[in-house]
Amino acid sequence: MNNLAPTMNMLIEKLESHHSLSLSQYAFLIRHYSEEAALLLAEKAVALRKRFYGNAVYVRGLIEFSNICKNDCFYCGIRKSNSNCQRYRLSEEDIMACCHEGYELGFRTFVLQGGEDGYFTDEIMCRIVSRIKNTYPDCAVTLSLGERSYESYKALRSAGADRYLLRHETADQAHYESLHPKEMSFSHRMNCLKQLKELGYQVGCGFMVGSPGQTPQTLAKDLKFVETFRPHMCGIGPFIPHQETIYRDAAPGTVEMTCYLLSIIRLISPSILLPATTALGTIHPLGREKGILSGANVVMPNLSPVSVRKKYELYDNKICTGDESAQCRQCLARRMESIGYEIVTHRGDYIKQD
Ligand code: SAM
Ligand code: FES
Repeated sequence: MNNLAPTMNMLIEKLESHHSLSLSQYAFLIRHYSEEAALLLAEKAVALRKRFYGNAVYVRGLIEFSNICKNDCFYCGIRKSNSNCQRYRLSEEDIMACCHEGYELGFRTFVLQGGEDGYFTDEIMCRIVSRIKNTYPDCAVTLSLGERSYESYKALRSAGADRYLLRHETADQAHYESLHPKEMSFSHRMNCLKQLKELGYQVGCGFMVGSPGQTPQTLAKDLKFVETFRPHMCGIGPFIPHQETIYRDAAPGTVEMTCYLLSIIRLISPSILLPATTALGTIHPLGREKGILSGANVVMPNLSPVSVRKKYELYDNKICTGDESAQCRQCLARRMESIGYEIVTHRGDYIKQD
């Protein structure tokens, strides 16, 4: 028997047997973080992840195609009001060249991520998506373009986009409002996620761990949201301050809490696609390995041209900004092998659990 309090053991058992937890139970789990609880949860999360995915780690090639953004999220290094950010936008040809390089390196998913850049109209974006899908029919395209209209999401889906990542950032409205300017709306973001699901995308939500103002109660709402919305993916990584934002002196999120939450999310949703993020690798040299060993099953090496990487700096000291795509791919393959896992080169779709 372990040394955990009986309530902790009861909650962990409940999670393991796929029972729903109340908000106060999720908050209890978070407030009572301990190394022992983290180890136990990680062990259970890894066993579950192995049942669905064996020792495979899915890779996604990340193409950060524009750092121009009309939004002003208070925590984000590429927010519109950061006048010290050198802006760039990749051309369609640049994006195709990244895919070409990625395909040769074995990538079968391309993630196009960027700020909310008005240049990328539906017409332009749909053309890019269908060009990628026509050139590489065996690949999945994931979009992460922020909030757009239902019609836009629909057109992009018809053009061939398979997946969409839109972190909800926090499932607590007041917390959301404290992190964003008043032009941005919590209900709009949540509604976008619902629409994306309705349109048949594999949908990813997510949040930063340790974002300013986050509490066990707001995190409990995030976990409840994952439980009820049932996303196919969930991107969580530590918040890391950026020097050109008002949160420059705020404390970053921790590896420990991020890994603890990765394990809990794996137990809530056994076959969910769960990345060990670059932010996790930024706050700890072995962050991504620790993420996988806590139940994550995806990594997202960077495929952006080296010339722009430093400019897509969402937070300070982001890793992998000087490496070529091939180096990033090899480095991650080695890292995964060192912990007994193996990078696989297929699309890596969500596995339905029921
Ligand atoms: N514009 C798209 C959107 O809003 O979904 C995609 C790009 S946005 C930069 C991608 C994610 O980066 C955000 O959802 C946010 O969670 C994360 N991010 C932004 N600033 C961050 C920071 N300082 N630390 C950690 N993650 C951050
Ligand atoms: Fe738009 Fe960060 S504020 S991507």
